[in-house]
Amino acid sequence: MAKISSIEGRILYNSRGSKTIEVDVKTDNKFLGRVCAPSGASVGKYEAVSFPNNNPEDSLRILKENSQKFIGLESSDLKAIHDVLKTLDGTTNYSKIGGALAFAVTIAAMESAARALDKPLFQILSSEQSFNFPFPLGNVLGGGAHAGPGTPDIQEILICATGSKTIEDAIETNLSVHKELRRVLEKEDPSFTNGRGDEGGWAPKLENQKALEISAKACENLGFTLGKEVSLGVDFASSTQWNEEKSKYEYSRAGFENSTGEQIEFAASIIEKFKLIYAEDAVHEEAFEDMAELTAKFPKTLITGDDLTVTNKEILKKAIEKKSCNAAILKVNQAGSLFDALEFADEATKNNIKLITSHRSGESTDSQISHIGLATKSKMLKVGIVGGERVAKLNELLRLSEHDLIRGMAEI
Ligand code: PGA
Ligand code: ZN
Repeated sequence: MAKISSIEGRILYNSRGSKTIEVDVKTDNKFLGRVCAPSGASVGKYEAVSFPNNNPEDSLRILKENSQKFIGLESSDLKAIHDVLKTLDGTTNYSKIGGALAFAVTIAAMESAARALDKPLFQILSSEQSFNFPFPLGNVLGGGAHAGPGTPDIQEILICATGSKTIEDAIETNLSVHKELRRVLEKEDPSFTNGRGDEGGWAPKLENQKALEISAKACENLGFTLGKEVSLGVDFASSTQWNEEKSKYEYSRAGFENSTGEQIEFAASIIEKFKLIYAEDAVHEEAFEDMAELTAKFPKTLITGDDLTVTNKEILKKAIEKKSCNAAILKVNQAGSLFDALEFADEATKNNIKLITSHRSGESTDSQISHIGLATKSKMLKVGIVGGERVAKLNELLRLSEHDLIRGMAEI
């Protein structure tokens, strides 16, 4: 059968120019799976640790010392590969071997298995016979941990072509809003440099409300009605603003502070005013009750956990019990191995939590997450709009549109 014949790693750079690890898994000496691990800037407190001692070289050394343990395993046996990693690690958060290593080894093995079986990766990861495209959700304007001083405190304003019937139209629509937004920003501020944040969203000198208004205007200029052809989303990434000692959210760029109650009102007013389809981490990562208030109030909006749920099945169970969210981000490297992430996805699906498969702000040009989004029946795929490492994921969706098992767009 198809067995792993070699496994090797190397140090490369991600889109932010930081060192990361890439892993090559070969099946039967010829079928290569190659995966380079991404990394976040606004990292959740309870995410898997990317590298031991923050050092990719340590993960690489561990892989080299233990490569024999993977040789001879069935490359499609995700559980067996995961178990080897867990035995090597022995911690709950991959702090010994690095979550980035677990990410790269497990996805590279599945990709190698897919090549050996001559099937696309998404089919190896799911036994379903029919698939829908997740709606691309893309960052059009950003600030927070992804851009410098003067930009909004809010991390991401996102666009989603909720009225699109095809993946081609959904991608094209997102791109058109991104382009129009640049024109609106240039008109508003002739000194706008066209600077962009880590994920390709524009990074203008604007405070939060104005940034939202201008994003809405770009949509309207194109003849779109918010909530119809297109909808806006926001990743508040509120843990960035949260000051634990003061028990306040500090919006230092805009110059105000929110108490816990004010933060809920602040998020609620933005959700209402801009008819958001999507609101991520509207309160900080441990505010399960506050998230539950928003979830109860806005059943039609995807009230989404990212830092809140960190692709961790046990934390998701807590969020489900407290009704903290109706949607959750799936970032494989938050979990560590792909096996962990798929367990999280199963738990979410069983409990009607909608999934949004997501990139990280520091990315590679790989595109396996487009397949992971399909296989996990994600409603959205949050992968940005422009920049080679973002477009790579969108282009993979376009390639996959030639596949006859994928029928149309997901129902949000
Ligand atoms: P990160 O940001 O990859 O920097 O964590 C993405 C997000 O918060 O969704
Ligand atoms: Zn986020």
